[in-house]
Amino acid sequence: MDHPLYAAAYDRLCASAEAAGLAERRAALLADATGRVLEVGGGTGHNLRWYSAADSVVVLEPDASMVRRLEPRLADCPVPATLIRAGIEEADLQDGSFDTVVCTLVLCTVPDLDRAVARIRRLLAPAGRLLFLEHTAAPGGWGLVQRALDPLWHRAVPGCHLHRDPVSAIRRSGLMVAGYDRIDLPLVPGLLRAGVVGTACERTADPPVPAGTYPRRRSLGTHLSPSRASTAVRGAGAGRSSPGADLNVGGVRGAGAGRSSPGADLNVGGVGA
Ligand SMILES: C[S@@+](CC[C@H](N)C(=O)[O-])C[C@H]1O[C@@H](n2cnc3c(N)ncnc32)[C@H](O)[C@@H]1O
Repeated sequence: MDHPLYAAAYDRLCASAEAAGLAERRAALLADATGRVLEVGGGTGHNLRWYSAADSVVVLEPDASMVRRLEPRLADCPVPATLIRAGIEEADLQDGSFDTVVCTLVLCTVPDLDRAVARIRRLLAPAGRLLFLEHTAAPGGWGLVQRALDPLWHRAVPGCHLHRDPVSAIRRSGLMVAGYDRIDLPLVPGLLRAGVVGTACERTADPPVPAGTYPRRRSLGTHLSPSRASTAVRGAGAGRSSPGADLNVGGVRGAGAGRSSPGADLNVGGVGA
């Protein structure tokens, strides 16, 4: 895989979003990246400097031109970091060997979303966690626009799909979404604005996000204030939740949360959607 033009433009394309809050989002998410960390699709290395809580980091990157930019930046990582030039599907890694897997703006791009998330699940240690920060399918009119533009977008921005739903894919893999927030990403208005940030783990693992963690992230600005979210979401979604064993600890179940998956997700202080 090699996309030289995209790789050359990537940092410039991201610059205003990073300055407008994306870098802060990365920092907040990756403060929870502990132990042996695997980052899927490191791109040009925007996350590397935020791994101070990790023991070590392995970065996967299959695109040769991205690799050329990423490699010299491994030195920015505060803990030992190594690069594997491979995608998540074929990387030669041992099952159960990572405490944290990180996906930022990459699940939109992997060729087969379910296959990629299934591999991520296998690579996680039993008590491991997946940290994700992704753009997602938008509701309503923007969703229709995303669907219509997707074939064109997919060619213009190599491999990227506008209208994917990473949270549903994570649930389909069998992982439990332990908490997440719907956020406004400071990316191209409308098309890429709908975002999700959160954590997933095995159902048997202790919930990895302690109550109180997500309000810290929420202070970085979710699209609903906690009070508005509570009112809006309890009214709209609580009664329609599936009869599954959804549990909400200090959080707010969103409209459709129970409908998108019958899983027993735990929403710790986050805003389900
Ligand atoms: C939009 S960029 C995001 C880069 C970085 N994660 C970030 O947050 O800035 C998506 C990256 O995923 C990589 N990628 C695409 N398919 C992949 C796969 N199957 N496994 C791992 N990485 C992949 C691309 O080469 C690209 O570098």
